[in-house]
Amino acid sequence: MCGIIGLVSKREVSSTLLEGLKRLEYRGYDSSGIATINNKKIERVRSKGNLSFLEEKLANISLPGKIGIGHTRWATHGSPEEKNAHPHITNKVAVVHNGIIENNNQLRNQLIEAGVKFSSDTDTEVVCHIITSYINSGLNAYDSIRATMNDVKGSYAFGVLILNEPDKLFAVRGGSPLAIGSARNENFIGSDTYSLSAYSDNITYLKDGDVAVIENDSFRVFDYSNSSVKREKQSIIESVSLSEKGIFKHFMSKEIHEQPEVIAKSLSNYIDMDKGVLNIPSLPYDFSTITNVTLVACGSSYYAGLIARDWFEKFTNVKVDVEIASEFRYREPPMVSNGLTIFISQSGETADTLAALKHCKSRGQKTISIVNVGDSSMCRDSDASLKIYAGPEIGVASTKAFTCQLVVLACLAIKIGTSNGSLSKEQEKEYVKSLLSIPRLISNTLDKEDEIIDLAHDLSNITTTLYLGRGQMYPVAMEGALKLKEISYVHAEGYPAGEMKHGPIALLEKDLPIFMIAPSNSLYEKTVSNLYEVIARDASVILLTDNEGLHNIGLIKNKIKTFLVDETDIISAPFVYTLPNQLIAYHIALLKGTDVDQPRNLAKSVTVE
Ligand code: M6R
Repeated sequence: MCGIIGLVSKREVSSTLLEGLKRLEYRGYDSSGIATINNKKIERVRSKGNLSFLEEKLANISLPGKIGIGHTRWATHGSPEEKNAHPHITNKVAVVHNGIIENNNQLRNQLIEAGVKFSSDTDTEVVCHIITSYINSGLNAYDSIRATMNDVKGSYAFGVLILNEPDKLFAVRGGSPLAIGSARNENFIGSDTYSLSAYSDNITYLKDGDVAVIENDSFRVFDYSNSSVKREKQSIIESVSLSEKGIFKHFMSKEIHEQPEVIAKSLSNYIDMDKGVLNIPSLPYDFSTITNVTLVACGSSYYAGLIARDWFEKFTNVKVDVEIASEFRYREPPMVSNGLTIFISQSGETADTLAALKHCKSRGQKTISIVNVGDSSMCRDSDASLKIYAGPEIGVASTKAFTCQLVVLACLAIKIGTSNGSLSKEQEKEYVKSLLSIPRLISNTLDKEDEIIDLAHDLSNITTTLYLGRGQMYPVAMEGALKLKEISYVHAEGYPAGEMKHGPIALLEKDLPIFMIAPSNSLYEKTVSNLYEVIARDASVILLTDNEGLHNIGLIKNKIKTFLVDETDIISAPFVYTLPNQLIAYHIALLKGTDVDQPRNLAKSVTVE
């Protein structure tokens, strides 16, 4: 997952490459670097840590050159040290890489036996040495790259500079995304549209097996058979200017507070506001014939799928499975001919989800992607795509994308339900009304942020916690635990409240904080029974519920802390109960002083397996 940028121009490139890398930092920020060709030499500046460290170095070291490549890294092979930062270079070649070379060890051993000295622990350096050895054997630059592609196994996108072709930038795609953006007198390469959109109003996506030879005024693309091919040039329509934090200290906080607005925007794209009914763009399927729905995703997007399972089951009466993409793609689950598989992803680039999508397509499944990044690989590879309209999500922890995914999933479940006759028009209107109430309900929760801040102060020293819930509140609990884990580094688990007694109850001890999520719905009483079991073991409960829930809690009211939200229903509950969990995670992280927007070891877009 790493971000690649490259530029060949008539002007100096290093400052533009640095700006481009800032747009790719969401893909990784363990280390970064830039290389240029200048005066018949490859020059390079690299730094450990996020881009601010590289920026600081570049303020003191000049890096001249009108052609260059840059990289921001999420470590796979080799720890996040400067020696492992890209670009990797020899005296003739510089390479930046996104992906994983699976036969790295074997190739590295062969090179070592041939006398090559390595200066990093990365798989990328292997690529750099192989290209160099082909150049040394007399092959030209293009043929050396092609020959190297035959040697390496895995998924990759490379940006390559070759000293004896100082005016040409080479772009290689073999499983990881890479695109070309053109502007006057210069051409760029970038891992995504966002990195290119500041410089170019058009984009050309490479396909797997492509090598592009790029000069400042033109480029050519060759496919796996070395035939010159024309790849479609698309305009970059959407404005993806980098969001500013505005009055907020972190993007995550801003994105939490944006939710009423972006959810309303998302709703307006799928609902006819005047008529109070769904208005979903036409999709290439007859939903009345769908017999199975499979939801596939990773991380928070997977939890969104688990929440949506309830809606799909209740509204459509078809069988629903929810799958973790990295597990699903390596199983051989039977697939029925009228199965619909839905892929949920903020980035639309998550490698595991993308691979699962390709697998399902090859097995004749109907595919829909639900994505935030509209021109992402998933969007292009699926039969149909529904955007969630959350706007750019910069914080690594997913917040507004998660709730906007829920919007689209709820609408789709209602749509399939009405199409196959499981839901009446009246029910559709009732659920749409509930959807439309969500921006107001979550605004009410955001207004109580001060209460959460107090709670966070009480909890700032916790080292472990459990989030418990039943039904849809179980995945809401898992999402809450994930938020806390990823940004505050506090151990947390989301667990089905009713399953506690089968093991995890052994963890309970005096004052262990437990979040109980209990809206006053049909599962309320069962959840409260579990709450009593927790209290009986002297753990310290924070109850998330509504007024009625608090009223019905009985004698233990004074033994627990409570956070109250508005009354909810089957549609609104997962949204409304997600908000306090996001805020709690954020404020605990703030008190712990962690890097909220760029938590350690993570990246926004996970483009490796
Ligand atoms: O871009 P995707 O939605 O496919 O990403 C999936 C996960 O990597 C993502 O949700 C991750 O779990 C987030 N960091 C959660 O906050």
